Amino acid sequence: GIDTSKLLATTGKVALDIGFVNTASCTSAITYIDGDAGILRYRGYPIEQLAEGSSFLEVTYLLIYGELPTADQLGEFDQRIRRHTLLHEDLKQFFNGFPRDAHPMPVLSSAVSALSTFYQDSLDPFDEEQVEISTLRLIAKLPTIAAYAYKKSVGQPFLYPDNSLGIVENFLRMTFGFPAEPYDVDPDLAKALDMLFVLHADHEQNCSTSTVRLVGSSHANLFASVSAGINALFGPLHGGANQSVLEMLESIRADGGDIPRFVERVKSKEPGVKLMGFGHRVYKNYDPRAAIVKSTADTVLDKLGGNNELLDLARQLEEIALNDEFFIQRKLYPNVDFYTGLIYQAMGFPTRMFTVLFALGRLPGWIAQWREMIADPSTKIGRPRQIYTGETARDYVPVDER
Ligand code: ACO
Repeated sequence: GIDTSKLLATTGKVALDIGFVNTASCTSAITYIDGDAGILRYRGYPIEQLAEGSSFLEVTYLLIYGELPTADQLGEFDQRIRRHTLLHEDLKQFFNGFPRDAHPMPVLSSAVSALSTFYQDSLDPFDEEQVEISTLRLIAKLPTIAAYAYKKSVGQPFLYPDNSLGIVENFLRMTFGFPAEPYDVDPDLAKALDMLFVLHADHEQNCSTSTVRLVGSSHANLFASVSAGINALFGPLHGGANQSVLEMLESIRADGGDIPRFVERVKSKEPGVKLMGFGHRVYKNYDPRAAIVKSTADTVLDKLGGNNELLDLARQLEEIALNDEFFIQRKLYPNVDFYTGLIYQAMGFPTRMFTVLFALGRLPGWIAQWREMIADPSTKIGRPRQIYTGETARDYVPVDER
């Protein structure tokens, strides 16, 4: 047996790199991260500037097409997306087939996968015109699908999209509004959610994006690839962490707010106990997205009437962890998920919708990365190798002789 945990160097011609810690799977011109310095840029633009001055729609354009749009380009892009927000009536039947208490993430991935059946013109990844239409369809329809998944889970009627509204406003109305009742979108709420989507829009070769690329490398279409990415995002070590953070904070509160006791449990590596929302494969410094969320959490929670008690708890927990040798040695800092859940909760979303919100934000990144890969003539099908550690050759023994 090979001790695989020690084997980092090359073995013959195959390099073993569990979790791809040191292996680049592609070249990419979309997102730059310097994990030691805590830097994140989309197409060269610092995340701080985009969060401050840009919008989710503009960032979507930037990531996919490579440049910031002019006002005319942005307006046209917006109009084209608004035309595609409706779901086929038959697709709506899907939502009724799932159990009422289904988690909305698998509902989301299933509905995105089903888009391939409604749009069979999407199957050829090299048909540029169709890829463009699939791109617009996906951007336009994912918020509608997400809102329907939510409505289904709370037993309320679906709302058709209102195309006089922008992408984020429309999503909020479809989620929290009721048919035949006016719903005034709170501009503070829409602005805060728009900014959180900007922060999530891409993060180079993370687990879900690598999944999108790997599936797409077999020339599977955009819908199939993004559906797989949504499933990868569902896991608690990835996008599912935003839900886990809130559950963790609530359980600490239920335990009388005893943070030191919780931190001891984490440090003793009690099975299943981690400081959720901390640590990152690439950032060995403060996640710049977490810094932005933290600095806006106060204002947003004050405006929206959020849970300041849990926010205080999160702040104290961060303070204690950042001054503790265990976390210092391992370079564990808050990641983007540490504070987002508190804001989502203040906005009125149930915990189970948090990862769906992450998916809505990450969609432009998945699309941009898939398109970059498909357009790159040097792309090959993704096919990792392995180091075999099983039995050597042995003879088959019939069942009555075993
Ligand atoms: N709490 C406690 N200890 C941790 C944590 C944590 N959140 N994260 C890492 N560690 C410890 C590990 O136990 C390990 O300790 P050891 O050296 O004594 O064995 C060391 O730090 C290194 O951790 P790895 O698990 O090897 O780091 P990896 O890069 O594989 O994992 C990950 C990164 C998955 C993000 C991890 O930090 C984690 O599980 N964090 C909690 C979940 C989370 O917040 N995920 C969201 C990530 S960001 C995102 O997807 C948007």
